[in-house]
Amino acid sequence: MTNATIMILPGDGVGPEVTAQALNVLRAVEERFGRTFTIRSRLVGLDAIEAEGTAISDDTFEECAQSDAILFGAVGSLPAGERRSGGPRPEQALFRLRKEFGFFANLRPIRPSESMYGASSLKPEHLKGTDMVFVRELSAGLYYGHMESIPGKPSEIRHTGRDTEAVDTLLYTEAEIERVVRAAFEIAAGRRGKVTSVDKANVLSSSVLWRRVVDRVAREHPAVAYEHMLVDTCAMRLVRTPADFDVVVTENLFGDILTDEASMLTGSIGMLPSASLGVRRTQGGMFGLYEPVHGSAPDIAGRNEANPIGAILSAALLLRHSLGLGKEAGAVEEAVEEVVRAGYRTVDVHESGATVVGTQEMGRRVVDALLQRDGVR
Ligand code: NAD
Ligand code: IPM
Ligand code: MN
Repeated sequence: MTNATIMILPGDGVGPEVTAQALNVLRAVEERFGRTFTIRSRLVGLDAIEAEGTAISDDTFEECAQSDAILFGAVGSLPAGERRSGGPRPEQALFRLRKEFGFFANLRPIRPSESMYGASSLKPEHLKGTDMVFVRELSAGLYYGHMESIPGKPSEIRHTGRDTEAVDTLLYTEAEIERVVRAAFEIAAGRRGKVTSVDKANVLSSSVLWRRVVDRVAREHPAVAYEHMLVDTCAMRLVRTPADFDVVVTENLFGDILTDEASMLTGSIGMLPSASLGVRRTQGGMFGLYEPVHGSAPDIAGRNEANPIGAILSAALLLRHSLGLGKEAGAVEEAVEEVVRAGYRTVDVHESGATVVGTQEMGRRVVDALLQRDGVR
């Protein structure tokens, strides 16, 4: 794609620290491959609430719509109990982007680097061959339950109509299940050809429907093997036999929780990238939102400690899926691999014998590896 426009939304906490490194890497891609990206940046999250009264303004949203892809850092910081009742919340920026742009498929690849097995909380022999991608449904389910507000009561609580009760509804239509399941089968067809569909069909009626749709979509893909797995079993198997998974597809909240768990296969949630895709096409692929899986990490913000690899690998996914720049994406992924193989680590994935570096130095080393500068490797 020529003349791509990328919107960067750094957000809160460590968000600006890690997206700054991802931007440096995109600049290095321009230099090495002779590309030109138009980069824009706008406020989201707490700063946007302060400056514009809302977690993402209409103007910012419109500018996102005019872009080819969005690179997002993280939003949020106040623990749930401390937030102001009823006021705007930073996370609303994410919900608006996901919902209004129709990003229903959230891809979260998890492939621990062999050179980093020692950083994982699992023994190396359990990690061998682990290479999976989660396809998390992102636009429905419990996150978008029906709201009935009661005058004078906090609006962030969904009431049943009685102010002594709160309710969350887990609603899925067949169409919402079908499109994300179909995406999972298509991805599996281009990988090892196996889908694990995760649900709680022994309890939830939305899961019974989910299974029925999976069985139907599976018939369109006879070359792809598939299985159903209960979510509790999946949580256990992820840390027992992670290499057995190829593509995992599941509903919104299950996917949120299981991927935080699975992040520890790589050693840190700071390592994981994600791509949120929908239906709109760009010149090079799909319009999408790319963000590390982690949050604003208020406990380490401002200390140059955050691992920028999740954000940098998210930029690689952006190049591949929205801009159609697969070679460039692969080069970024190789540069990251080269730096960690050389033993450079942020503190979250430190292991004995490695050299601890800060956020900025890690970013700089990836840039140097990408530009094949001497003395980096
Ligand atoms: P978090 O992901 O921010 O942090 C969890 C733990 O992981 C912390 O100990 C943190 O230090 C560590 N961590 C996170 N990112 C790291 C990185 N890049 N390098 C090294 N360590 C890292 O989750 P939380 O503390 O539960 O949530 C904080 C805020 O972030 C909340 O407001 C939450 O809503 C928000 N959040 C936002 C997103 C997002 O913007 N997509 C995702 C998750 C959480
Ligand atoms: C994520 C985050 C968000 C989610 C929060 C911040 C609302 O945890 O992107 O994984 O639950 O989707
Ligand atoms: Mn999450």
